[in-house]
Amino acid sequence: MVVAFVGLIVLGGSGFFVASTLEEHDTFCIACHTVPEVTYYNRAYIAIDNPGQRVTDLATAHYQLSQIHNKTPFACIDCHRGDASLGQRLSTLALGGRDALIYVLGKEDPTIEKTKTREGWLPNAACANCHADTLLTLKGLDNHFHTHLPQAAAALASGGTLKVADTTPQDKRADLLRVGLKTINTTLVCSDCHLAHKTVSAGATFFMDNTRRNEACVSCHQTAKEGPQNVNNLQ
Ligand code: HEC
Ligand code: HEC
Ligand code: HEC
Ligand code: HEC
Ligand code: HEC
Repeated sequence: MVVAFVGLIVLGGSGFFVASTLEEHDTFCIACHTVPEVTYYNRAYIAIDNPGQRVTDLATAHYQLSQIHNKTPFACIDCHRGDASLGQRLSTLALGGRDALIYVLGKEDPTIEKTKTREGWLPNAACANCHADTLLTLKGLDNHFHTHLPQAAAALASGGTLKVADTTPQDKRADLLRVGLKTINTTLVCSDCHLAHKTVSAGATFFMDNTRRNEACVSCHQTAKEGPQNVNNLQ
């Protein structure tokens, strides 16, 4: 199967459909991503078999939560295809072709839980696509770290709707909607705060490492020239 995939992607332009179909299956990914990344696959399927078990990484949480809440079963490609637009589908398949070549040449990088991958923008586009609601729900300072992101502005521009949380008091609503998003031109991506595959310690909220997250907060404040300019000023 892998050999067929390599042939299709590397040699032919007609492989788009077949490659697209293969990618839907997690077993396809681990045909190449054996040790060490097969760990990601194992974690996901062990979590599905043990719905009560505490999950320690964000990717696995998606598998478990989707199951618990009776949603469509999650797959690797749901994050790794980007926002599912045609352009990003082609990027995904091109990446697959490049990776197939690296695989055949045996030049892969053996470390696990990498956090600054070359093509990290692609799965990050998927986050913003599925979580547009989170980005467009105005709660003032309580979630300005989402609403001030360029990804929130992009979600609004592509047809999303600004809203306020149900819990917001009536007298605050109009004000929040009037102020809106306020976009800061930062290059931060979701995985600068929410670690995708890295195991987080007990007590970490929404799969964030505090040190890494605080650095991300401050980096936006420095771009904006507003808010705490130093990690020591964040509680
Ligand atoms: C034909 C073998 C093969 C298949 C099938 C495959 N990969 Fe890969 N993948 C690779 C190789 C080789 C690399 C490059 C590793 C390196 O550079 O160290 C890679 C790299 C990656 C990267 C890192 C990209 C980056 O930014 O550096 C991601 C993410 C990834 N693969 C996800 C997937 C997912 C998800 C699937 C299933 C839909 C999949 N792969 C299927 C061989 C494969
Ligand atoms: C919730 C979304 C999400 C899911 C689900 C997910 N990934 Fe990822 N994955 C990411 C993101 C984001 C990155 C980039 C991390 C970075 O650059 O900081 C990544 C990076 C990777 C990498 C390259 C870096 C590394 O740690 O080796 C591989 C390989 C990979 N994922 C494989 C998989 C496989 C296999 C599955 C399914 C078992 C999967 N992913 C499911 C979001 C996800
Ligand atoms: C295909 C759609 C999809 C993609 C892509 C996706 N998510 Fe999610 N995300 C969900 C769903 C569905 C849930 C679970 C909601 C529920 O049922 O509780 C969820 C839950 C979460 C949660 C809450 C976890 C918890 O413990 O409550 C966080 C944080 C999150 N996602 C962040 C991300 C980030 C960051 C990315 C990209 C790396 C991402 N998501 C990619 C659909 C997606
Ligand atoms: C600067 C850090 C930072 C960045 C960047 C970031 N987040 Fe968050 N995120 C947080 C914090 C802090 C919380 C916890 C909010 C709380 O406790 O109510 C959170 C919570 C969440 C949640 C769960 C609660 C909710 O409000 O739905 C989701 C989903 C989520 N983030 C998605 C994303 C997505 C998608 C992106 C990228 C577009 C992203 N985040 C980028 C800091 C960040
Ligand atoms: C996308 C950019 C961005 C990110 C990410 C961000 N901030 Fe801010 N922050 C701002 C801006 C801009 C202000 C100025 C007030 C405003 O316009 O909302 C601010 C103001 C603040 C203030 C001062 C509020 C006041 O009353 O003066 C605090 C505290 C703060 N941020 C904490 C955080 C924390 C904690 C995080 C990370 C979880 C974070 N910020 C992430 C842009 C950001």
